[in-house]
Amino acid sequence: MKNDKRLKSENKLRDPVIKYMMENNLWEEKLKDEIPTKFEKYGGLILFNSPSFSHSRWLDAGEGLYRWDVEKTMFSRGNVTERHRIARLDCTNEVIVDLYAGIGYFTLPYLVHANAKHLHACEWNPDALKSLRFNLSLNGVADRCTVHDGDNRLVCPKNIANRVNLGLIPSSEASWDTACQTLLSSGGTLYVHQNVESKVHSSKHCDDCANLKMISPRSEETGSAAAKLVSRSENDVIVSDSKDLNVSWKKPEWYRFSLHLSHKLLKFVESYHGGNWTVCVTEVFKVKSYAPHVDHIVFSVKCFPSSSLLFV
Ligand SMILES: C[S@@+](CC[C@H](N)C(=O)[O-])C[C@H]1O[C@@H](n2cnc3c(N)ncnc32)[C@H](O)[C@@H]1O
Repeated sequence: MKNDKRLKSENKLRDPVIKYMMENNLWEEKLKDEIPTKFEKYGGLILFNSPSFSHSRWLDAGEGLYRWDVEKTMFSRGNVTERHRIARLDCTNEVIVDLYAGIGYFTLPYLVHANAKHLHACEWNPDALKSLRFNLSLNGVADRCTVHDGDNRLVCPKNIANRVNLGLIPSSEASWDTACQTLLSSGGTLYVHQNVESKVHSSKHCDDCANLKMISPRSEETGSAAAKLVSRSENDVIVSDSKDLNVSWKKPEWYRFSLHLSHKLLKFVESYHGGNWTVCVTEVFKVKSYAPHVDHIVFSVKCFPSSSLLFV
């Protein structure tokens, strides 16, 4: 009877794993010994005996393997949608900067799936750095990643990135200037994470935002408009009515924050790279509800010299 029960729990994991591997043409008989017979579940976390899933073939089945010290560093399961979005990008021939690399939570999908040519990963926590380096080797991508140990505002290289990832909540605002400096002078895209509060009495982010001039203004509530900022001699101008750029703002606070974000970024790129630039929030992704009335959002922001034909 006891044996029957044990057999059942073994099959619970083994059968679906084998089925999945077979369906994806990844199965080999020798992998059977690496499927753990026991596991323990703690909320969303499953613990296996070591060594389990150690053959490199398991890497092809998942989105990448991560190993870290659970007592010392974080791993947010809730960010899975953003990790999948990154994995679907095509970053062939592109240089990426991850300003808050942690254990490689976003760094790895850029390298393993999005095929980034090279990635610069900044991180200041020694425990996270240890896991990051280990995970880069584990996934066979260490040769395409340079790890910068320290405060990203001090160690991040400049003028190199096609895309910059700013994966820090509640806000990455302290490194927006650094992100603009790491962009190529021909421009690129920033992915800015932010916890955006809704239903707050004041949604004013800074005095500067109040002076923005609107062209073809739309109501913030209407749901679709592009927060595109261009620099003009006397004022920064919001072009909020572009048929090519149709962002869906589920909440007015998201739109208002994106104006603050693009306004700040416009100042930073122009003061570092010179000339007139155009900054536009082209996509908005909700990662998760962080707390009541607080959403973890990723703003995808394109920043290009206004003279550039590349700008969408
Ligand atoms: C919220 S974690 C996110 C890591 C990763 N993006 C993820 O989602 O798993 C933020 C990471 O950034 C690091 N960090 C925070 N501020 C930093 C700074 N100014 N320079 C370098 N690393 C920083 C922290 O040590 C931490 O590992």
